[in-house]
Amino acid sequence: MYRTNTCGELTISDVGKTVTLSGWVQRSRDLGGMTFIDLRDRYGITQLAFNMETNAGLCEKARKLGREFVIQVTGKVEERHSKNMNMPTGEIEIFVDAITILNKAEIPPFTIEDDTDGGEEIRMKYRYLDLRREPMRKAMELRSKMAIETRSFLSAEKFIEVETPVLIKSTPEGARDFVVPSRMNNGQFYALPQSPQTFKQLLMVAGFDRYFQIVKCFRDEDLRADRQPEFTQIDCEMAFVEQDDVLNTFEGLIKHLFMAVMDEEFEGPFPRMSFDDAMSNYGNDKPDIRFGMRLRDLTSLVQGKGFKVFDSVEHVGGICAGGCASYSRKQLDAITHFVTKPQIGAKGLVWVKYNEDGSFKSSVDKFYTPEDLQKWAEKFNAKPGDLLLVLAGEKGSTRNALSELRLEMGEQLGLRNKKVFAPLWVVDFPLLEWDEETQRYHAMHHPFTSPKPEDIDKMKTNPGEVRANAYDMVINGVEVGGGSIRIHDQQLQQQMFQALGFSDEEAQEQFGFLMNAFTYGAPPHGGIAFGFDRLVSLFAGLDSIRDVIAFPKNNAGRDIMIDSPSAVNKDALDELSLQVVKKD
Ligand code: AMO
Repeated sequence: MYRTNTCGELTISDVGKTVTLSGWVQRSRDLGGMTFIDLRDRYGITQLAFNMETNAGLCEKARKLGREFVIQVTGKVEERHSKNMNMPTGEIEIFVDAITILNKAEIPPFTIEDDTDGGEEIRMKYRYLDLRREPMRKAMELRSKMAIETRSFLSAEKFIEVETPVLIKSTPEGARDFVVPSRMNNGQFYALPQSPQTFKQLLMVAGFDRYFQIVKCFRDEDLRADRQPEFTQIDCEMAFVEQDDVLNTFEGLIKHLFMAVMDEEFEGPFPRMSFDDAMSNYGNDKPDIRFGMRLRDLTSLVQGKGFKVFDSVEHVGGICAGGCASYSRKQLDAITHFVTKPQIGAKGLVWVKYNEDGSFKSSVDKFYTPEDLQKWAEKFNAKPGDLLLVLAGEKGSTRNALSELRLEMGEQLGLRNKKVFAPLWVVDFPLLEWDEETQRYHAMHHPFTSPKPEDIDKMKTNPGEVRANAYDMVINGVEVGGGSIRIHDQQLQQQMFQALGFSDEEAQEQFGFLMNAFTYGAPPHGGIAFGFDRLVSLFAGLDSIRDVIAFPKNNAGRDIMIDSPSAVNKDALDELSLQVVKKD
């Protein structure tokens, strides 16, 4: 028997017992005649004690143990002299009678501590060591708990978990596909699913009524803190539902997860905000509503006063940073620097201080009188002591820059507390968005999303104005899930493909199987998929989804632990009739 107990469970009530523990040497300390070792396993840390006077041989042996050695010890539980009330086992220690070294260990390349000295790359290379650290283990435990709670909630709601294939044909979720060459069908390729979208719809045609799957999805897109090339969705679909049915059901899931995992209760329904309101008040479709600081449109108020920068642009908008009128020149320069960074893209910043004494000081005093600035302040409901920050330019990019500025100011002012959660639904998305580059419409969500029935007539005449029965769930500025009511009518689906510029042949070739299925009695249906990694990282209070994935890829899409992707040998390529052509 390797152990009678784990390293996290012995307390003062176990004093006097003889126990056997197994685990890793976290650290050892020699203090005069005593040696102490912290022994660690998944459950915690227990202090081992060795006395030079009573057992010199054993003490010498203990002193030679290196960090991360795997050992087994047997000894007696005793009360500690200097107790550590911060840890569950902090009142006891084990006076060891016997040690067995189960395995030696090389010195690890970084310290296995909560605050490690290892950079991210080295931690990813030795991920199995990184996962020994408590914060990582806790994140993985949280992930496991959330998956279990998801399954238990959804199965109680009569959802059945169905696995769908991984080697499929392209699904149009908007990113590039990862492709897999087929040996048996030479010259042909599978695509890895960007999501199981078409399969879950086919399961509704099959009459499964309620489906879910915790499933890996694959997208070849540029990576960020909240994007991985392979990530996990809680993917769901329901038949005979309208939008409200779907929203209510999955609001229930998210509330259940908050309650079961975080002990956090939400009263009443989550707020619902239209896409248009989100864009005009927050500048993006995933608003962080933990704080106000809403965007205001100043265009008509500020134009025509001789300030060319404002007069010549499509849009002038701003935010009001509460209590920031005392910002120094240096602080204002830093904000200007922030908004003019290439990623944010503003041309410059106009600021207005609404001083505590009621006077105004601004970077545009030459063009605007205090009365003018008073009107600006009224637009924001500003109070003396506030600071107005104003940007100008093309409408979309200005809103976008303001949205980034708002988040930055929220961060600076401590308004984005990770322990506060503000979920909402964003609804009424446009069905299509115009893409300048390809000069055609793209599905904002995906091509299977249903237009709002009252807008169907506009699909031919004014496609850009058609709204969709599509919705996103947003928490703290993160899009954690998205879905829609689907088209279940073959003709409407065909019309949608036409609006997206597919020829009938192209639509038939790519999605003939789905449109065909719709001719055999497709029920009205709709669904949603949550980004599981994003949900877990949000619950864990972590900024990157990499920290909640056991074996993630780095920002270049590489797994540096197993060194993948990598070249394959020529025989394998020959078998697939593939040849690698080097790019210059
Ligand atoms: P969508 O493309 O919005 O919808 O994806 C659903 C959710 O998945 C998460 N997500 C990601 N998470 C990590 N890395 C990525 N690369 C990544 N891409 C997306 C997001 C997102 O909200 N089939 C539809 C769902 C449906 O209509 O039912 C779909 O996949 O949190």
